Amino acid sequence: NPLNGAQFVLAAHRISQLPADRGAEVAFAGRSNAGKSSALNALTGHKGLARTSKTPGRTQQMVAFSLPPLAQGDGNAPLDARLIDLPGYGYAKVPEELRAHWKQEIDAYLHQRRSLRGVVLIADIRHPLKEFDRMMLDFCFETNLPCHLLLTKADKLSRNQATQALAAVRREFGEGVQASAQVFSSADGTGVEPAREAVVALLRR
Ligand code: GTP
Ligand code: MG
Repeated sequence: NPLNGAQFVLAAHRISQLPADRGAEVAFAGRSNAGKSSALNALTGHKGLARTSKTPGRTQQMVAFSLPPLAQGDGNAPLDARLIDLPGYGYAKVPEELRAHWKQEIDAYLHQRRSLRGVVLIADIRHPLKEFDRMMLDFCFETNLPCHLLLTKADKLSRNQATQALAAVRREFGEGVQASAQVFSSADGTGVEPAREAVVALLRR
């Protein structure tokens, strides 16, 4: 697992506090309680890496994790790689001012962060592509960033229902968006291996 060995670096309230903008970075975004932190833990194979919670709005910072240098296999030096856990957006009990702050900060991050190679968007497979997910897809479209969607909590659906949900989401992707999607579950490990490959492919892009 190339994402094994991830380590907490820092938690930031604004972009200026993030690690130096070099190497390659992939950001994890999604609505509050979608399962972003759980997905990060499953992908890195490190249960306690990112804090998860039953309470939506748990992650109210941008949390940076460093990865071991990623071999590029083309004679280039190993890549300095990071994963960023973005604050969950859209949770009603988070004060309006804070929500506005994060919306602005995430927008600025996606537009300005030069080391950002792509976004992993996490959505609950039972109700994907809500307003905020579409906003993220629009940001990715505007900034030409590829987006890989993890339809998580697939353990809550039958295999057939999950396949149908995936097909529906793929039909909805707009023209021109570099978006891909897959079924995922942090709870039972569904899709973890292909999701790792997708993250590594984004980092190496
Ligand atoms: P915020 O940081 O609050 O935005 O949430 P988050 O998106 O980081 O979600 P988190 O990973 O903390 O998970 C939220 C809740 O969903 C927790 O109770 C998790 O145990 C649960 N959960 C996450 N992933 C899965 C999954 O794949 N299957 C099931 N059944 N539950 C999950
Ligand atoms: Mg979280």
